[in-house]
Amino acid sequence: MLDAIHPTSRRGRIILLRTRIVLTLKDLSYSQKKYSTSDNRTRIKNFYQESDHLVIPQRQPHPLTPSANTDLILKTIMDNFALNDAPIDAKEMAESMEVYLRTRKRLLGIANKRIAKISKDSDENKKIYSNDSSEKKDNPAVNVHVYDLCAGHGFTGMLFAACNPPLKGRIVKTFLVDIEEPPSHTILKELIAEVCPWIKDNVQFNVCSLEELNTEVTKDSCSIVIATHACGKLTDQVLNEAVRMDACAIAAMPCCYTGTDKGTPYGIKRALGVAWAADIRRTQFLDSNKYHVDYSTIPVEITPLNRIIMAEERL
Ligand SMILES: C[S@@+](CC[C@H](N)C(=O)[O-])C[C@H]1O[C@@H](n2cnc3c(N)ncnc32)[C@H](O)[C@@H]1O
Repeated sequence: MLDAIHPTSRRGRIILLRTRIVLTLKDLSYSQKKYSTSDNRTRIKNFYQESDHLVIPQRQPHPLTPSANTDLILKTIMDNFALNDAPIDAKEMAESMEVYLRTRKRLLGIANKRIAKISKDSDENKKIYSNDSSEKKDNPAVNVHVYDLCAGHGFTGMLFAACNPPLKGRIVKTFLVDIEEPPSHTILKELIAEVCPWIKDNVQFNVCSLEELNTEVTKDSCSIVIATHACGKLTDQVLNEAVRMDACAIAAMPCCYTGTDKGTPYGIKRALGVAWAADIRRTQFLDSNKYHVDYSTIPVEITPLNRIIMAEERL
């Protein structure tokens, strides 16, 4: 592992970069003797300027090709945000990047399994209905729809489309859902599209409430649902919606817990606290709806509300 963080390797620089964001936030938190990141809201450009290690590029980065790896994509997006003084804080960037990096393998892994199943079913149907079984045609690409519910500016959801350029058998599309579209969304999307042009057609903002969301479940697509810091009971609505749309995988990082422990046994609340009581109830809900449930976390220095409920369909 020591080799991996060597500052002369590209991967090493990215890991160090990520670590530095976390460490800097941590230092600020400790120097103020509290575990809150609310005072660490520094625009990404200022964060670069205050850092000894980050350099704002002199000119616009070139558009990347779809073969670029995740580290390069993330670093180039960050640099472009810093260069253009994007309306996003270092804390929000770190939060979205960490959520993406800590959930992508499981979420997309289960989506790939669902895709393999869709392709297998389609092959079997072809054999049944085709007179000439020797005729071989490629199956059309399967759409993976990533729904970022209560998306805010939508940066977390957009990372899924940015870091997963369209492949022959799979196209990752992001749908951002929120009751309002913040002005920062369009600016962030345009800056990402400058370096990852493929997101232009693969990100859509739907201004509507969770109650109004009307997603169709189709056989040639599979859905992933993510939600970061959907306030209070909104996280429960997100999980209900994910189950309704037959999502193959879910990642929800809940926010404030006020009122979310209703219906949980008193002993659990007393022993483990309201947050765990609510998340255990949520876990049981998902478990009883065919999902295998586990937890992940992002560094507490970025946000103390850092638990991610991860659910994968049992195939
Ligand atoms: C705390 S913000 C989180 C934003 C973003 N996910 C993030 O982590 O930065 C919660 C978001 O939920 C949205 N929201 C509130 N009620 C909603 C509803 N009923 N349906 C959809 N979105 C809603 C708000 O507009 C707000 O953008």
